[in-house]
Amino acid sequence: MSYPYDHRPIGIFDSGVGGLTVLQELLEKFPDETFIYLGDTARVPYGTKSPATVQRYTIQVAEFLLRQGVKGLVVACNTASALGLPALRAHCEVPILGVIEPGCQAAVGLFQDGALATPDGDRPRCIGVIGTHGTITSGAYARTLALLVPEYVIRSLSCPLFVPLVEEGWTNYPSARLLIRESLQPFIDNPVDALILGCTHYPILKPKIADILGSATTLVDSAQAVALALNRLMGAGIVLPSAQRQFVHYYVTDAATRFREVAARFLPQLNMDAVEVVDL
Ligand code: DGL
Repeated sequence: MSYPYDHRPIGIFDSGVGGLTVLQELLEKFPDETFIYLGDTARVPYGTKSPATVQRYTIQVAEFLLRQGVKGLVVACNTASALGLPALRAHCEVPILGVIEPGCQAAVGLFQDGALATPDGDRPRCIGVIGTHGTITSGAYARTLALLVPEYVIRSLSCPLFVPLVEEGWTNYPSARLLIRESLQPFIDNPVDALILGCTHYPILKPKIADILGSATTLVDSAQAVALALNRLMGAGIVLPSAQRQFVHYYVTDAATRFREVAARFLPQLNMDAVEVVDL
């Protein structure tokens, strides 16, 4: 008897293009899953909005995806994960995965599996987190890390100008490099051992950030950890590789052409055929 795999799609969302960095990893890990991606481009950025507003947006987006019949939801936005996850969990019955816990596990894992050496002398291990204003002021990363590794030093910094750099496609301008450098100054003056890219837009800036911070700091992009966590969360519900063609349906809440252009610039391998505009 063959196992009844659940062929319903998995919903994944972000305020804009950032969540595509997570989608790309999920497509690699689950080549036969069907995904529905929504970028809430009419209301990006989430990072500067109040917690109540982000919570309301998060629930509206999730309701849209649930109406499409998804079997699980990936909140591929740190701001929505930090501010909207508890409300979302109380609201929906399908399994829901945020990005904060997997990101924290990935950072801590670097020390625990020996990928990062123990600091010299008595200096405690130090993890930094960068994210939007909403994510950092929520304290979600600091709280999660304090539970996992109370003995580590955790330093958080909001980098509110990084999302517009990505959304505007400015990442390769010399002025962008200056701005990234200036934003990261506290971590240049006083380096952390590992730095969590606590916004799904930031992996697009990863080569620049890595270059600026140098080899003293290891960057943590949570996408791979999210893929592992999704496998655990969905268990047997995940479709195993077969001969099926992989399919993603893309939705945005505004400006589909611009979304496709920005996505094609950073993630050309996603091969976005059609992007549909929806009203939530
Ligand atoms: N990519 C999102 C995050 O991970 C949100 C960026 C924003 O809309 O401010 O936080």
